[in-house]
Amino acid sequence: MPILAPSILAADFANLESHCREAVEAGAEWIHVDVMDGHFVPNITIGPPVVRSLRPVADDTGAFLDVHLMIEEPGRYVKAFADAGADRITVHVEACTHLHRTLQSIREAGVRAGVTLNPGTPVSSLEPVLHLVDLVLVMTVNPGFGGQAFIPESPDRIRTVRSMLDAVGSNAHVQVDGGITPDNVSAVIDAGADVVVAGSAVFRGRGTVDENVRAFRRAWSQLA
Ligand code: DX5
Ligand code: ZN
Repeated sequence: MPILAPSILAADFANLESHCREAVEAGAEWIHVDVMDGHFVPNITIGPPVVRSLRPVADDTGAFLDVHLMIEEPGRYVKAFADAGADRITVHVEACTHLHRTLQSIREAGVRAGVTLNPGTPVSSLEPVLHLVDLVLVMTVNPGFGGQAFIPESPDRIRTVRSMLDAVGSNAHVQVDGGITPDNVSAVIDAGADVVVAGSAVFRGRGTVDENVRAFRRAWSQLA
């Protein structure tokens, strides 16, 4: 079964704890934290203190804290996010001068390492570091904002990444992020994704958070 990772970017920050609890109680297993610096992407969001505040909520609910850094030179902040309690730190190939070193430093901090890339970046840029990660995030929008439309070429990129991982004998997760809804989720799962990030469709969707999470679970329970 795929894993749902609700992005708190679309949650009500004044009610973050209750929103996260509701999502996890409805069956979401990970909480996805989008960190933006106003440089790598135009938007500014949150930093280590919010991860630190969510850590006990994650411990209490059994959720996994999945931190997606959309910041320049994320290596500078690995320790801060690891100390704050991140379970995984995912960095962009475009943001790291020393990608290999940055991924090593995440692992040395005792945190799982993920790598990601923008829709305009060739997937071949992942090849040298596939053995260092247990998650590849295929961005399905240009990072920076929630609520954008899914890029239709994404399933082809997901397939390519999945076969690159197979070729090196890696069973790393393939995660997707951006514009995912219960209506299009089967296309990304069919292409090989197994972790689905969703912000708007969970926290600003048609129903309550509980109903929206269940809509995703219903969508993939119908897959063969
Ligand atoms: C995009 C972020 C996403 C985003 C997803 O820059 O990485 O996690 O919040 O939001 P939706 O599901 O609204 O596209
Ligand atoms: Zn994200």
